[in-house]
Amino acid sequence: MDSIVNDNFALYHGDCVEVLRQLPSASVHYSVFSPPFSSLYTYSNSPRDIGNVRNDAEFFAHFGFVVDELLRVLRPGRLVSMHTMLLPTSKERDGYIGLRDFRGDLIRAFQARGFAFHSEVVIWKDPVTAMQRTKALGLLHKTVRENASMSRQGVPDYVITMRAPGEVPRDERVTHDAAEYPVAVWQNVASPVWMDINPSDTLQHRSAREHDDERHICPLQLEVIRRCVELWTNPGEVVLSPFAGIGSEGHIALGGTTTRGAKLKPRRFVGVELKRSYYEQAALNLSAAVRSREAVGLFDSLDETSDDPPDILAPVASVACEASVDELPVVDTSSPVAAPGDAFTAADGPVFGGPPETTTKRARKPRAKRATEAT
Ligand SMILES: C[S@@+](CC[C@H](N)C(=O)[O-])C[C@H]1O[C@@H](n2cnc3c(N)ncnc32)[C@H](O)[C@@H]1O
Repeated sequence: MDSIVNDNFALYHGDCVEVLRQLPSASVHYSVFSPPFSSLYTYSNSPRDIGNVRNDAEFFAHFGFVVDELLRVLRPGRLVSMHTMLLPTSKERDGYIGLRDFRGDLIRAFQARGFAFHSEVVIWKDPVTAMQRTKALGLLHKTVRENASMSRQGVPDYVITMRAPGEVPRDERVTHDAAEYPVAVWQNVASPVWMDINPSDTLQHRSAREHDDERHICPLQLEVIRRCVELWTNPGEVVLSPFAGIGSEGHIALGGTTTRGAKLKPRRFVGVELKRSYYEQAALNLSAAVRSREAVGLFDSLDETSDDPPDILAPVASVACEASVDELPVVDTSSPVAAPGDAFTAADGPVFGGPPETTTKRARKPRAKRATEAT
Protein backbone atom coordinates (compact mmCIF):
# COMPACT_ATOMS: atom_id res chain seq x y z
CA MET A 1 0.00 0.00 0.00
CA ASP A 2 1.25 3.45 -0.86
CA SER A 3 1.00 6.10 1.77
CA ILE A 4 2.23 9.58 2.51
CA VAL A 5 2.67 10.40 6.16
CA ASN A 6 4.04 13.64 7.50
CA ASP A 7 3.34 16.09 10.32
CA ASN A 8 0.32 17.55 8.54
CA PHE A 9 -1.48 14.63 6.95
CA ALA A 10 -1.55 10.90 6.39
CA LEU A 11 -2.95 9.71 3.08
CA TYR A 12 -3.36 6.01 2.34
CA HIS A 13 -4.04 4.22 -0.92
CA GLY A 14 -6.19 1.31 0.20
CA ASP A 15 -9.43 0.08 1.68
CA CYS A 16 -10.70 2.39 4.41
CA VAL A 17 -11.99 -0.53 6.50
CA GLU A 18 -8.51 -1.97 6.74
CA VAL A 19 -6.78 1.35 7.30
CA LEU A 20 -9.28 2.53 9.93
CA ARG A 21 -8.78 -0.72 11.82
CA GLN A 22 -5.16 0.22 12.30
CA LEU A 23 -5.76 3.74 13.57
CA PRO A 24 -5.64 4.21 17.34
CA SER A 25 -8.95 4.34 19.22
CA ALA A 26 -10.32 7.79 20.12
CA SER A 27 -7.78 9.51 17.90
CA VAL A 28 -10.01 11.43 15.46
CA HIS A 29 -11.77 14.69 16.35
CA TYR A 30 -14.12 14.88 13.36
CA SER A 31 -14.90 12.98 10.20
CA VAL A 32 -16.45 14.43 7.06
CA PHE A 33 -16.90 12.64 3.77
CA SER A 34 -19.05 11.75 0.83
CA PRO A 35 -19.51 7.97 0.66
CA PRO A 36 -20.34 6.08 -2.52
CA PHE A 37 -24.12 6.36 -2.94
CA SER A 38 -24.84 2.65 -2.76
CA SER A 39 -24.60 1.31 -6.34
CA LEU A 40 -25.41 4.64 -8.06
CA TYR A 41 -21.83 5.09 -9.26
CA THR A 42 -19.10 2.49 -9.09
CA TYR A 43 -15.62 3.97 -8.98
CA SER A 44 -13.58 0.84 -9.64
CA ASN A 45 -14.00 -2.87 -10.20
CA SER A 46 -12.40 -3.74 -6.87
CA PRO A 47 -14.60 -5.83 -4.57
CA ARG A 48 -13.35 -3.46 -1.87
CA ASP A 49 -15.06 -0.53 -3.59
CA ILE A 50 -18.10 0.19 -1.43
CA GLY A 51 -19.92 1.38 -4.55
CA ASN A 52 -19.26 -1.92 -6.32
CA VAL A 53 -22.41 -3.59 -4.99
CA ARG A 54 -25.58 -5.00 -6.50
CA ASN A 55 -28.05 -3.47 -4.06
CA ASP A 56 -28.50 -1.48 -0.85
CA ALA A 57 -28.32 -4.59 1.33
CA GLU A 58 -24.80 -5.32 0.04
CA PHE A 59 -23.85 -1.67 0.42
CA PHE A 60 -24.92 -1.47 4.07
CA ALA A 61 -23.33 -4.83 4.91
CA HIS A 62 -20.02 -3.41 3.66
CA PHE A 63 -20.52 0.13 5.00
CA GLY A 64 -21.31 -1.25 8.46
CA PHE A 65 -17.62 -2.11 8.86
CA VAL A 66 -16.79 1.56 8.25
CA VAL A 67 -19.34 2.74 10.83
CA ASP A 68 -17.95 0.29 13.40
CA GLU A 69 -14.49 1.75 12.93
CA LEU A 70 -15.72 5.36 12.97
CA LEU A 71 -17.32 4.66 16.34
CA ARG A 72 -13.99 3.35 17.63
CA VAL A 73 -11.65 6.01 16.25
CA LEU A 74 -13.78 9.07 17.05
CA ARG A 75 -13.22 10.81 20.35
CA PRO A 76 -16.21 10.83 22.76
CA GLY A 77 -19.04 13.15 21.80
CA ARG A 78 -17.43 14.14 18.51
CA LEU A 79 -19.13 14.20 15.14
CA VAL A 80 -19.18 12.61 11.72
CA SER A 81 -20.79 14.43 8.78
CA MET A 82 -21.81 12.77 5.53
CA HIS A 83 -22.91 14.16 2.23
CA THR A 84 -25.87 12.18 0.94
CA MET A 85 -29.11 12.29 -1.06
CA LEU A 86 -32.26 10.35 -1.85
CA LEU A 87 -31.67 7.91 -4.68
CA PRO A 88 -33.87 7.43 -7.74
CA THR A 89 -35.45 4.07 -8.33
CA SER A 90 -36.00 2.64 -11.78
CA LYS A 91 -38.78 0.51 -13.19
CA GLU A 92 -36.20 -1.89 -14.58
CA ARG A 93 -34.34 -2.42 -11.32
CA ASP A 94 -36.86 -1.66 -8.56
CA GLY A 95 -40.15 -2.24 -10.35
CA TYR A 96 -41.34 1.35 -9.87
CA ILE A 97 -40.30 4.93 -10.52
CA GLY A 98 -39.71 6.89 -7.35
CA LEU A 99 -37.14 7.59 -4.64
CA ARG A 100 -35.53 5.47 -1.99
CA ASP A 101 -34.50 6.81 1.38
CA PHE A 102 -30.74 6.24 1.21
CA ARG A 103 -30.26 9.27 3.47
CA GLY A 104 -32.48 7.71 6.16
CA ASP A 105 -30.80 4.32 5.80
CA LEU A 106 -27.41 5.96 6.43
CA ILE A 107 -28.76 7.64 9.57
CA ARG A 108 -30.18 4.33 10.80
CA ALA A 109 -26.88 2.51 10.13
CA PHE A 110 -25.17 4.94 12.52
CA GLN A 111 -27.99 4.89 15.09
CA ALA A 112 -27.85 1.08 15.19
CA ARG A 113 -24.26 1.42 16.40
CA GLY A 114 -24.95 3.99 19.12
CA PHE A 115 -24.54 7.29 17.30
CA ALA A 116 -27.10 10.06 17.88
CA PHE A 117 -28.68 11.85 14.91
CA HIS A 118 -27.27 15.29 15.60
CA SER A 119 -27.93 17.67 12.71
CA GLU A 120 -28.93 17.96 9.08
CA VAL A 121 -28.65 20.65 6.44
CA VAL A 122 -30.30 20.58 3.04
CA ILE A 123 -28.18 21.89 0.17
CA TRP A 124 -30.37 23.34 -2.53
CA LYS A 125 -29.88 22.00 -6.03
CA ASP A 126 -31.35 23.51 -9.15
CA PRO A 127 -34.11 21.19 -10.51
CA VAL A 128 -33.65 22.58 -14.02
CA THR A 129 -29.99 21.53 -14.08
CA ALA A 130 -30.99 18.11 -12.70
CA MET A 131 -33.71 17.77 -15.35
CA GLN A 132 -31.27 18.62 -18.14
CA ARG A 133 -28.64 16.22 -16.81
CA THR A 134 -30.81 13.23 -15.91
CA LYS A 135 -33.92 13.68 -18.08
CA ALA A 136 -35.81 12.29 -15.06
CA LEU A 137 -39.44 11.75 -15.91
CA GLY A 138 -40.62 13.42 -12.71
CA LEU A 139 -38.84 16.69 -13.52
CA LEU A 140 -39.95 17.12 -17.13
CA HIS A 141 -42.53 19.78 -17.97
CA LYS A 142 -43.96 17.28 -20.44
CA THR A 143 -44.93 15.12 -17.44
CA VAL A 144 -46.68 18.06 -15.77
CA ARG A 145 -48.71 18.51 -18.93
CA GLU A 146 -49.51 14.86 -19.54
CA ASN A 147 -49.47 12.96 -16.26
CA ALA A 148 -48.71 15.20 -13.30
CA SER A 149 -49.16 12.37 -10.80
CA MET A 150 -45.65 11.35 -11.89
CA SER A 151 -44.18 14.87 -11.40
CA ARG A 152 -41.98 15.42 -8.38
CA GLN A 153 -39.66 17.96 -6.79
CA GLY A 154 -35.92 17.93 -7.43
CA VAL A 155 -33.66 16.01 -5.08
CA PRO A 156 -31.40 18.14 -2.85
CA ASP A 157 -28.11 17.17 -1.29
CA TYR A 158 -27.97 16.70 2.47
CA VAL A 159 -25.20 16.82 4.99
CA ILE A 160 -26.23 14.65 7.92
CA THR A 161 -24.21 14.76 11.11
CA MET A 162 -24.09 11.99 13.69
CA ARG A 163 -22.65 12.25 17.21
CA ALA A 164 -20.54 9.58 18.86
CA PRO A 165 -21.57 8.47 22.37
CA GLY A 166 -20.05 10.23 25.36
CA GLU A 167 -19.29 13.81 26.34
CA VAL A 168 -16.58 16.02 24.92
CA PRO A 169 -14.12 16.64 27.77
CA ARG A 170 -14.29 20.24 28.99
CA ASP A 171 -10.73 21.03 27.91
CA GLU A 172 -11.41 19.65 24.42
CA ARG A 173 -14.56 21.56 23.61
CA VAL A 174 -14.69 23.33 20.27
CA THR A 175 -14.99 27.04 20.95
CA HIS A 176 -15.19 30.08 18.68
CA ASP A 177 -14.12 33.62 19.28
CA ALA A 178 -17.10 35.94 18.66
CA ALA A 179 -14.92 38.22 16.55
CA GLU A 180 -13.82 35.37 14.28
CA TYR A 181 -17.21 33.66 14.20
CA PRO A 182 -19.77 36.49 14.48
CA VAL A 183 -23.48 35.90 15.01
CA ALA A 184 -24.25 36.69 11.34
CA VAL A 185 -21.96 33.85 10.23
CA TRP A 186 -23.60 31.51 12.71
CA GLN A 187 -27.10 32.47 11.57
CA ASN A 188 -26.15 31.61 7.99
CA VAL A 189 -24.58 28.29 8.97
CA ALA A 190 -27.49 27.49 11.33
CA SER A 191 -29.98 27.77 8.47
CA PRO A 192 -31.56 24.35 7.80
CA VAL A 193 -31.19 25.01 4.06
CA TRP A 194 -28.02 26.30 2.44
CA MET A 195 -29.17 28.08 -0.71
CA ASP A 196 -25.79 29.62 -1.44
CA ILE A 197 -23.59 26.63 -2.28
CA ASN A 198 -22.07 26.90 -5.75
CA PRO A 199 -22.08 23.44 -7.37
CA SER A 200 -18.80 24.31 -9.12
CA ASP A 201 -16.98 25.12 -5.87
CA THR A 202 -14.89 21.96 -6.14
CA LEU A 203 -11.33 20.87 -6.71
CA GLN A 204 -10.43 20.22 -10.31
CA HIS A 205 -10.75 16.52 -11.01
CA ARG A 206 -10.29 15.90 -14.74
CA SER A 207 -6.70 14.82 -14.38
CA ALA A 208 -7.74 12.07 -11.93
CA ARG A 209 -9.92 10.37 -14.51
CA GLU A 210 -8.61 7.09 -15.82
CA HIS A 211 -10.98 6.96 -18.79
CA ASP A 212 -12.80 9.44 -20.96
CA ASP A 213 -16.10 7.80 -20.05
CA GLU A 214 -15.48 8.31 -16.34
CA ARG A 215 -17.76 11.03 -15.04
CA HIS A 216 -18.52 10.53 -11.41
CA ILE A 217 -15.88 11.43 -8.88
CA CYS A 218 -18.50 13.92 -7.52
CA PRO A 219 -16.12 16.03 -5.41
CA LEU A 220 -17.78 17.60 -2.41
CA GLN A 221 -18.21 21.38 -2.54
CA LEU A 222 -15.37 23.08 -0.72
CA GLU A 223 -17.57 25.64 1.05
CA VAL A 224 -19.71 22.84 2.50
CA ILE A 225 -16.60 21.21 3.93
CA ARG A 226 -15.25 24.54 5.15
CA ARG A 227 -18.40 25.38 7.11
CA CYS A 228 -18.53 21.96 8.74
CA VAL A 229 -14.84 21.76 9.63
CA GLU A 230 -14.81 25.32 10.95
CA LEU A 231 -17.90 24.81 13.13
CA TRP A 232 -17.03 21.42 14.53
CA THR A 233 -13.27 21.38 15.02
CA ASN A 234 -10.52 23.40 16.66
CA PRO A 235 -7.40 24.32 14.68
CA GLY A 236 -4.83 21.53 14.84
CA GLU A 237 -7.38 18.76 15.44
CA VAL A 238 -7.51 15.61 13.33
CA VAL A 239 -10.08 15.39 10.52
CA LEU A 240 -10.71 12.04 8.81
CA SER A 241 -12.14 11.19 5.40
CA PRO A 242 -12.37 7.42 4.82
CA PHE A 243 -13.44 8.12 1.20
CA ALA A 244 -10.91 10.80 0.36
CA GLY A 245 -11.45 10.91 -3.42
CA ILE A 246 -9.25 13.66 -4.85
CA GLY A 247 -8.74 15.14 -1.38
CA SER A 248 -11.40 17.88 -1.02
CA GLU A 249 -11.92 17.36 2.72
CA GLY A 250 -8.18 17.27 3.31
CA HIS A 251 -7.57 20.33 1.16
CA ILE A 252 -9.91 22.41 3.35
CA ALA A 253 -8.80 20.84 6.65
CA LEU A 254 -5.17 21.63 5.83
CA GLY A 255 -5.91 25.29 5.12
CA GLY A 256 -6.52 25.23 1.36
CA THR A 257 -8.94 27.75 -0.14
CA THR A 258 -12.43 27.46 -1.57
CA THR A 259 -12.91 28.82 -5.09
CA ARG A 260 -13.94 32.11 -3.44
CA GLY A 261 -10.68 32.23 -1.47
CA ALA A 262 -12.09 31.36 1.97
CA LYS A 263 -9.89 29.18 4.15
CA LEU A 264 -9.41 27.91 7.70
CA LYS A 265 -6.62 27.78 10.21
CA PRO A 266 -5.08 24.38 9.51
CA ARG A 267 -6.26 21.16 11.04
CA ARG A 268 -4.52 17.84 10.45
CA PHE A 269 -5.93 15.25 8.10
CA VAL A 270 -6.13 11.49 7.65
CA GLY A 271 -7.52 10.24 4.35
CA VAL A 272 -7.98 6.89 2.64
CA GLU A 273 -8.72 6.38 -1.04
CA LEU A 274 -9.05 3.09 -2.87
CA LYS A 275 -8.70 4.23 -6.45
CA ARG A 276 -5.13 4.92 -7.46
CA SER A 277 -5.71 7.84 -9.83
CA TYR A 278 -7.81 9.64 -7.19
CA TYR A 279 -5.24 8.88 -4.49
CA GLU A 280 -2.50 10.37 -6.64
CA GLN A 281 -4.55 13.48 -7.32
CA ALA A 282 -5.38 13.77 -3.60
CA ALA A 283 -1.67 13.54 -2.77
CA LEU A 284 -0.95 16.47 -5.06
CA ASN A 285 -3.91 18.47 -3.72
CA LEU A 286 -3.03 17.95 -0.06
CA SER A 287 0.62 18.82 -0.64
CA ALA A 288 -0.40 21.95 -2.53
CA ALA A 289 -2.70 22.99 0.34
CA VAL A 290 0.18 22.67 2.81
CA ARG A 291 2.54 24.58 0.52
CA SER A 292 0.04 27.39 0.01
CA ARG A 293 -0.44 27.98 3.71
CA GLU A 294 3.29 27.92 4.38
CA ALA A 295 3.57 30.70 1.86
CA VAL A 296 1.12 32.84 3.86
CA GLY A 297 2.42 31.93 7.35
CA LEU A 298 -0.53 29.95 8.74
CA PHE A 299 1.61 26.97 9.63
CA ASP A 300 2.23 27.95 13.25
CA SER A 301 -1.41 27.57 14.24
CA LEU A 302 -0.93 23.79 14.37
CA ASP A 303 0.70 24.35 17.72
CA GLU A 304 -2.60 25.53 19.20
CA THR A 305 -3.57 21.99 20.20
CA SER A 306 -1.63 20.98 23.26
CA ASP A 307 -3.08 17.56 24.03
CA ASP A 308 -2.51 15.64 20.80
CA PRO A 309 -4.23 12.30 20.30
CA PRO A 310 -1.85 9.33 20.26
CA ASP A 311 0.09 8.52 17.10
CA ILE A 312 -2.73 9.32 14.73
CA LEU A 313 -0.34 10.38 12.02
CA ALA A 314 1.93 7.38 12.51
CA PRO A 315 1.93 5.07 9.48
CA VAL A 316 -0.33 2.01 9.56
CA ALA A 317 0.72 -1.36 8.23
CA SER A 318 0.33 -2.13 4.58
CA VAL A 319 -2.99 -3.46 3.32
CA ALA A 320 -3.94 -4.94 -0.02
CA CYS A 321 -6.33 -3.27 -2.46
CA GLU A 322 -7.42 -6.13 -4.69
CA ALA A 323 -8.03 -9.11 -2.42
CA SER A 324 -11.37 -10.90 -2.11
CA VAL A 325 -14.21 -9.22 -0.28
CA ASP A 326 -14.28 -12.22 2.06
CA GLU A 327 -10.96 -11.04 3.43
CA LEU A 328 -12.25 -7.64 4.47
CA PRO A 329 -12.11 -8.25 8.21
CA VAL A 330 -8.51 -9.45 7.98
CA VAL A 331 -5.76 -6.87 8.33
CA ASP A 332 -2.42 -7.79 6.86
CA THR A 333 0.11 -6.60 9.40
CA SER A 334 2.98 -8.63 7.99
CA SER A 335 3.89 -6.18 5.25
CA PRO A 336 6.45 -3.49 5.90
CA VAL A 337 5.26 -0.30 7.53
CA ALA A 338 6.04 2.90 5.67
CA ALA A 339 9.14 4.36 7.27
CA PRO A 340 9.01 7.89 8.66
CA GLY A 341 11.69 8.76 6.15
CA ASP A 342 9.22 7.97 3.38
CA ALA A 343 7.10 10.85 4.51
CA PHE A 344 6.49 13.42 1.85
CA THR A 345 7.46 16.96 2.65
CA ALA A 346 6.09 19.98 0.90
CA ALA A 347 9.52 20.76 -0.55
CA ASP A 348 9.74 17.43 -2.36
CA GLY A 349 7.40 18.49 -5.14
CA PRO A 350 5.19 15.97 -6.95
CA VAL A 351 5.63 12.48 -5.62
CA PHE A 352 4.11 10.31 -8.30
CA GLY A 353 5.95 9.65 -11.52
CA GLY A 354 4.91 6.08 -12.25
CA PRO A 355 2.21 4.94 -14.67
CA PRO A 356 -1.34 4.74 -13.38
CA GLU A 357 -2.51 1.37 -12.09
CA THR A 358 -3.78 -0.86 -14.88
CA THR A 359 -7.53 -1.04 -14.90
CA THR A 360 -8.95 -4.54 -14.90
CA LYS A 361 -12.31 -5.65 -16.22
CA ARG A 362 -15.38 -4.79 -14.18
CA ALA A 363 -16.32 -7.39 -11.63
CA ARG A 364 -20.05 -7.18 -11.31
CA LYS A 365 -21.70 -4.48 -13.28
CA PRO A 366 -21.14 -1.36 -15.39
CA ARG A 367 -18.76 1.03 -13.69
CA ALA A 368 -20.68 4.27 -14.08
CA LYS A 369 -24.41 4.54 -14.36
CA ARG A 370 -26.50 7.57 -15.14
CA ALA A 371 -28.72 8.88 -12.38
CA THR A 372 -31.63 8.47 -14.76
CA GLU A 373 -35.03 7.13 -13.99
CA ALA A 374 -36.14 4.44 -16.38
CA THR A 375 -39.48 5.07 -17.90
C1 LIG B 1 -18.03 10.36 -3.59
S1 LIG B 1 -16.38 9.89 -3.80
C2 LIG B 1 -15.55 10.94 -2.65
C3 LIG B 1 -15.16 12.27 -3.24
C4 LIG B 1 -14.46 13.16 -2.24
N1 LIG B 1 -15.38 13.65 -1.23
C5 LIG B 1 -13.85 14.34 -2.96
O1 LIG B 1 -14.39 15.45 -2.86
O2 LIG B 1 -12.87 14.16 -3.69
C6 LIG B 1 -16.30 8.34 -2.99
C7 LIG B 1 -14.91 7.74 -3.03
O3 LIG B 1 -14.87 6.56 -2.23
C8 LIG B 1 -13.86 5.73 -2.80
N2 LIG B 1 -14.00 4.39 -2.21
C9 LIG B 1 -14.92 3.43 -2.48
N3 LIG B 1 -14.73 2.34 -1.70
C10 LIG B 1 -13.67 2.62 -0.89
C11 LIG B 1 -13.00 1.92 0.15
N4 LIG B 1 -13.39 0.69 0.53
N5 LIG B 1 -11.97 2.53 0.78
C12 LIG B 1 -11.55 3.76 0.40
N6 LIG B 1 -12.14 4.49 -0.58
C13 LIG B 1 -13.20 3.93 -1.21
C14 LIG B 1 -14.11 5.85 -4.28
O4 LIG B 1 -12.98 5.45 -5.04
C15 LIG B 1 -14.43 7.34 -4.41
O5 LIG B 1 -13.27 8.09 -4.70
